[in-house]
Amino acid sequence: MILITGGAGFIGSNFVLHLLNNEAVSEKILVLDNLTYAGNMSNLSAISSNANFNFEKCDINNALALKEIIRRYKPRAVIHFAAESHVDRSIKGPSKFIETNITGTFNLLEASYEYFLTLDNGTNNTKKSGAQITKKQFRFLHVSTDEVYGSLEPNEPGFSENHPYKPNSPYAASKASSDFLVRAWNKTYNLPTLISNCSNNFGPYQFPEKLIPLVILNAMDHHAIPIYGDGKQIRDWLYVEDHCRALFLILDKGVIGETYNIGGNCEFQNIELVKKICLILNDLLPLKDSAKITQYHELIQFIDDRPGHDKRYAVDNQKLKNAFSWKPRETLFSGLKKTVQWYIDNLDWVKSIKNNSYKSWMKENYSKSFKKGENESS
Ligand code: NAD
Ligand code: TYD
Repeated sequence: MILITGGAGFIGSNFVLHLLNNEAVSEKILVLDNLTYAGNMSNLSAISSNANFNFEKCDINNALALKEIIRRYKPRAVIHFAAESHVDRSIKGPSKFIETNITGTFNLLEASYEYFLTLDNGTNNTKKSGAQITKKQFRFLHVSTDEVYGSLEPNEPGFSENHPYKPNSPYAASKASSDFLVRAWNKTYNLPTLISNCSNNFGPYQFPEKLIPLVILNAMDHHAIPIYGDGKQIRDWLYVEDHCRALFLILDKGVIGETYNIGGNCEFQNIELVKKICLILNDLLPLKDSAKITQYHELIQFIDDRPGHDKRYAVDNQKLKNAFSWKPRETLFSGLKKTVQWYIDNLDWVKSIKNNSYKSWMKENYSKSFKKGENESS
């Protein structure tokens, strides 16, 4: 049994689908998720009738419920995706980020450690603990972000695992705190932990508050495409399936107590990236003669910058490459094409996401930036 927190969110659901479809994992999978605005059971509909798939609706802030579920399912690994994950929301309302990302991770570490202590040492008392697996087999993989390292100057090398932590947003600070907690539970209590810090992901099932799906959906609706500041900020993009393959390798072969940085070696300015998406849309979803625009990029609008906006992220992924011969399979262009096509083909999913809570977020975050009518969600 592998326990996956946040498995109904963007990366978590892609990881569950990857395990069951691509790695042909024959173990049971338990998704533990509170189904916040970002979690969606329909992300998992393709495998929901798989006999190995299990789901528990649970808030990681509920320490007692977490302990009970872990005791009951006896996982051989915990993979921790559950988090509040959007920088702009963390600026508008940081408290949920402190609660879920820091206290929630603490609760999960405590529940995992309590359970870990009941596991057999691998000698002779398996009957006493009642558990099938041993302490030696157990792993806790904490899925984190490159944003903990802060922002790079234009010519600085990418973030290596030894780069100092300098988080700038409430989101990044909360993830940095959770990384430190995971480290401490390894150093102090010998909980067998692993940490991964990944760059910006994109792909199917990403909630359309993040740049790439937001641009695709706004463009499809002929609404304004919002670019913060001058659009020259740089991110290092990775297709989500490549992230999932890396996580599986780290879980399987990673050295306990180590951190692995994951990145696409794929740096682009936001404005360059958005123009690429517009070009792909021109091709995959040609505009009708009756449309008010002739090309999607005409929808681009520069708006007020995000406070504390990190200028540049880039990841040095050499350690991961050397350890596991991993490298990304998708280029930015091939991944973007797949992603745009996925949103075009999954309008029912899109419709279910664009509920009242999404509309009020869009209004709260963007309404002051646009002239009336330019960004009304359909
Ligand atoms: P997401 O926001 O799409 O999904 C988060 C999931 O966690 C949702 O299913 C949500 O319901 C669940 N969740 C939130 N609070 C919870 C709680 N209190 N209890 C139980 N479940 C809860 O996020 P994502 O983009 O899939 O990111 C997953 C993880 O990967 C996060 O930890 C994030 O920090 C990290 N990460 C994301 C990126 C990225 O580009 N998206 C890059 C690197 C690392
Ligand atoms: P985002 O997808 O929110 O990821 P992160 O902030 O975690 O990197 O944003 C990616 C980049 O795009 C970031 O530099 C902020 C920028 N951005 C915009 O220009 N406009 C937007 O509407 C959004 C959501 C992001």
